[in-house]
Amino acid sequence: MPSSPFPGQVSLGALILAAGKGTRMRSDRPKVLQTLLEEPLLRYVLDAALALCPDKTWTVVGHGADLVGQTVAARGGRLILQEPQQGTGHALQVAWPALTKAGLTHVLVLNGDTPLMREETLRAFLAASLAADADLAFISLTPKDPAAYGRVIRTKGLVEAIVEARDYDEALHGPPSREINAGVYCLRLASVAPLLSSLKDGNRGREFYITDLAHLAVFVKLTVLGHNHGDCPELLGINTPQELIRSEEFLREAIIRRHLEAGVLIRSPQTVRIGPDVELEPGASVTGPAELYGRTFVRRGARISSHCRLTDTRVGEGASVHSFSLLQEAEVGANCVVGPYARLRPGAILEEEAHAGNFVELKKTRLGRGAKANHLAYLGDADIGAGTNIGAGTITCNYDGTDKHQTVIGRGAFIGSNASLVAPLTIGDGTVIGAGSVITEDVPAAALAIARSRQRNTARKK
Ligand code: UD1
Ligand code: CA
Repeated sequence: MPSSPFPGQVSLGALILAAGKGTRMRSDRPKVLQTLLEEPLLRYVLDAALALCPDKTWTVVGHGADLVGQTVAARGGRLILQEPQQGTGHALQVAWPALTKAGLTHVLVLNGDTPLMREETLRAFLAASLAADADLAFISLTPKDPAAYGRVIRTKGLVEAIVEARDYDEALHGPPSREINAGVYCLRLASVAPLLSSLKDGNRGREFYITDLAHLAVFVKLTVLGHNHGDCPELLGINTPQELIRSEEFLREAIIRRHLEAGVLIRSPQTVRIGPDVELEPGASVTGPAELYGRTFVRRGARISSHCRLTDTRVGEGASVHSFSLLQEAEVGANCVVGPYARLRPGAILEEEAHAGNFVELKKTRLGRGAKANHLAYLGDADIGAGTNIGAGTITCNYDGTDKHQTVIGRGAFIGSNASLVAPLTIGDGTVIGAGSVITEDVPAAALAIARSRQRNTARKK
């Protein structure tokens, strides 16, 4: 696919408006960092923009600029600071010098709170703008409920203006249509530049509106195109918690559908939440309710039972993750068994056929091939050799109150129930640790170590 949908004489850039506060979310978090399936809204917009304009995508930041800027920088976008934030038109004015300096002829402007605007939709819109030779084009929608979105006013089918819902006056503008502005624009820089200084903040919001460019352009007889995309609720901007959940639900359903079509078995699909970057091989199975996020990868034949949550975790072929398990940045090898009620924290590595059973917690710990910790254990900062058995209640005492220490256990060892292994510690291959021992010193290979007081049976006093 060509990187620019426009022919050679056109130089297209993208500008994402993401400096606003998002007052209607009533949250301290900048709105564009609210999440859909655990990924910030802005990331979806950035991905679409960067796909179209890889080296020419700018993001206007302001409210929460540090945090928002990190998300942008992590994906390779460029930043423009808008301070203070005086509206979408003001954001465009602030960005303008960078756009002209880059030698753009056209800019695609995207609201940062419109995450489900897909690359294909944008390509079709850009193609339509070009075909119409538009100076200013925008995507419009005709949802069932026009809510608080900007209203498109047309006369004989031609765009007259975009009027914000709060400024809409029936006496002045006539009966409202259901056509609204989606917040995606394609501007020809040479045509729009002379209009920028005419933006005024004499509206109810006391802000400079990018949408006022529409009637300014019509007034000077430029070509203005409202490219209607019909009733597409998933393309609506997100301003309220209800709108956020509505969009998340659209995305969730689309992702589930994609996996089902690819041959992943998803049971109770209405209760399964899968992030956009999760990979599931055909023949993997997930039973809801379940959540899979981040860069999780589940191979064929693996089974994720209900009530599990996996983030950035790899699950190998034929592995079983039983109910109520929480896995984060973990690696589960082929044919392993995890849970029920297991917790695998970052750095947990289970090699093939290893088990981490009920109420077992692992952190920065490798369980070698076929090693088993089937019940009630905490294994942190440990390296456990192949075939070793960890008895119920075993604890690696890895923290001395100041520092963390390592426990190394060889292959084929047998750690008796309720052992406390005080790190740093090395336990050799084939060694047996007696149940209830508190082990504070290294144990060589093929030894039997018991560290507990001897049982004494005496006559009971009468
Ligand atoms: C905007 C449109 C409206 C449209 C709707 C679609 C305007 C005036 N109105 O309304 O016609 O129907 O989007 O979703 O543009 N932002 C900045 N700097 C600012 C203010 C906002 O960068 O000073 C950013 C926000 O972070 C947001 C985007 O611009 O991502 C849109 O701003 P928002 O306040 O959400 O506009 P709406 O009222 O939704
Ligand atoms: Ca908005």
